[in-house]
Amino acid sequence: MKKYKVFIPQKIPEAVEKYIGSFCDYEKWEGEGKITRSELLKRVHDKEGLLLTGVPIDDELLIHAPQLRVVSNISVGYNNFDLDAMKVRNIIGTNTPRVLDDTVADLILALILSTARRITELDRYVKDFKWKVEDNENLFGIDVHHTTMGIIGMGRIGEVVAKRAIFGFDMEVLYYNRNRKLEAERSLGVKYCEFESLLRQSDFVLLMTPLSNDTYHLMDFREFDLMKRDSVFINASRGQTVNEKALIDALENRKIRGAGLDVYEMEPVASDNPLLKMSNVVALPHIGSATEKTRFDMAMLAATNLVKALSGEIPPNIVPELK
Ligand code: DGY
Repeated sequence: MKKYKVFIPQKIPEAVEKYIGSFCDYEKWEGEGKITRSELLKRVHDKEGLLLTGVPIDDELLIHAPQLRVVSNISVGYNNFDLDAMKVRNIIGTNTPRVLDDTVADLILALILSTARRITELDRYVKDFKWKVEDNENLFGIDVHHTTMGIIGMGRIGEVVAKRAIFGFDMEVLYYNRNRKLEAERSLGVKYCEFESLLRQSDFVLLMTPLSNDTYHLMDFREFDLMKRDSVFINASRGQTVNEKALIDALENRKIRGAGLDVYEMEPVASDNPLLKMSNVVALPHIGSATEKTRFDMAMLAATNLVKALSGEIPPNIVPELK
């Protein structure tokens, strides 16, 4: 049986590696830390497949990988793909939808609750022995239940979040999306709303759009100005969907109440980023899908996509733009 030549520039679970090993002649990055771009370019010259997360797949890499047929992302996002460059060379690109929906939705709810009830800030307050008075109105937060959530970008994860919000927290859920989601409107009771109107009405604004040329800096100064003064902004999609300067301005000048962030314009986030000094910001290190089970499921799904594509089958998760 022919063994396909594959490179994996990162750690993956042992069982997934074993699965790949039964079909592929694979090499993986064993060095310290993240592989450098120049090392990566050296390693791909004879490879037919790549299994990875977040590595830019652009002209430069594709020129260095003339045998390449498939890039399998271990992520649902695929903003690392230069779609035009891949299309021209007939490279198959796949991602890992569905298996992470519930896990990411859980984290989004955690960000909402943490910002509204100031969980991380008050955890530190107790541990720093600052809790001297039993009940102190300076520690009050805001309610989540019976408020209005606005979801910008209503995909699968948005629907799972909406279900938790409506049935778990009695929230009203507005959404803005390129296409109406009539089935979700019927089954969940979510309401379609124009973008600006959603920003004006929502207590919790959730940005859930994938990153593309159209969504780059979708939230900018003007958009934060439209939000309610007591509202909370949540981003667990991609950092570059937000102009971070505008977000910092909105938080510093109390144009909005707070923010729950899992993603940033630059990751890992720089230590001098003003967001890290703000008590009204809950900051997480891009862990939306990061549970043991979900990360395993994503890696296994990505490996299956890779092997299927290399063996000439049509993998189920080719990203829409490359179908
Ligand atoms: C995804 O799957 O896109 C998550 O953000 C992890 O990168």
